[in-house]
Amino acid sequence: MSEVRIVSLPGDGIGPEVTDAMQHVLGAVASKFGHEISVEEYAVGYTAFEATGTPLPNETLEACLRGPAVFLGAVGDPRADKLTGDKRPEAALLTLRSELGCFANLRPARVDEPLVAMSALKDEIASGCDLVIVRELTGGLYYGTPRGNEGGRAVNTLVYDTHEVERVARVAFELAGRRRGHVTSVDKANVLEVSQLWRSVVSDLASEYPEVTLEHMLVDRAAMELVTNPARFDVLLTENLFGDILSDEASAMCGSLGLLSSASVGGEVGLYEPVHGSAPDIAGRGIANPIGAIRSGALMLSYSFDLQAESAAVERAVAEVLAEGLRTADLVAPGDMAVSTDEFANAVAEAIT
Ligand code: IPM
Ligand code: MN
Repeated sequence: MSEVRIVSLPGDGIGPEVTDAMQHVLGAVASKFGHEISVEEYAVGYTAFEATGTPLPNETLEACLRGPAVFLGAVGDPRADKLTGDKRPEAALLTLRSELGCFANLRPARVDEPLVAMSALKDEIASGCDLVIVRELTGGLYYGTPRGNEGGRAVNTLVYDTHEVERVARVAFELAGRRRGHVTSVDKANVLEVSQLWRSVVSDLASEYPEVTLEHMLVDRAAMELVTNPARFDVLLTENLFGDILSDEASAMCGSLGLLSSASVGGEVGLYEPVHGSAPDIAGRGIANPIGAIRSGALMLSYSFDLQAESAAVERAVAEVLAEGLRTADLVAPGDMAVSTDEFANAVAEAIT
């Protein structure tokens, strides 16, 4: 029996609804497989800002640093638009990622066969596609200094050290070695010096992974190939901002942003988040798609607790419920059964075997 101990940060908007759904499914896993699960909940984002004056209270950060695994629902609120700097809900997330040292963000994007018709791409282009974006998460434009916005001039800085590129590239090569053995490293080396360094570091590292093939691709072309020929990709390795953009693009291939999950690894503590945001327009209505959150829970079981059979059971249960035709509002097509967030999560929980 394992103890599955989770620090849970539901956050803003639909965050609490999808977090509940994920926890319900993990509860079913724990009782089926005889594990003990404990969840400690803390405030983050605009919700925390309203209550305490900061989007990342100290007690939240300290609990996260104790680990061993953190789940985050979503952060962001239109009422925060007037806030700047450290007070913004997004700043809490960026601080958390960096304090936890989670430098590699894994974002699987696989087209579920029952959802092919929901893809923004033609069926024959989307069908069978299965890729993972490995996004560098604690460096690049999001973190570089100087940064600021003063007197009609604003600046952000793109900077990477060799070791930051090397460690995230290693994650990508190792992952590719367990998949189809292909890494596409995305950059803008025809313009940016940072990308030239990125390219040479990744090329040098490739010699340590002879079983993996490496190709370099400019980010503009990668954006195009993601919608014209996504089947050519296995593992996409990217810097922080490119990975942010390309992962939303990849979600259109899958059918909904609500489907995508992520695991952020590299530090002592793992951080797990659905790729979608707080979606304030649909918050509180019980219609959010919980699949991204549930699959992030599956990634947590696998990466933080080494519970591979349990993680696979969650993936299987989601696939089964999709095959039965249950859909949240974002994915409903004629003939499907529209269900609420909770109903979908209940069905997944019941399908855990
Ligand atoms: C994501 C989100 C975040 C990011 C925001 C909320 C700061 O878009 O996780 O993709 O840009 O990393
Ligand atoms: Mn994003």
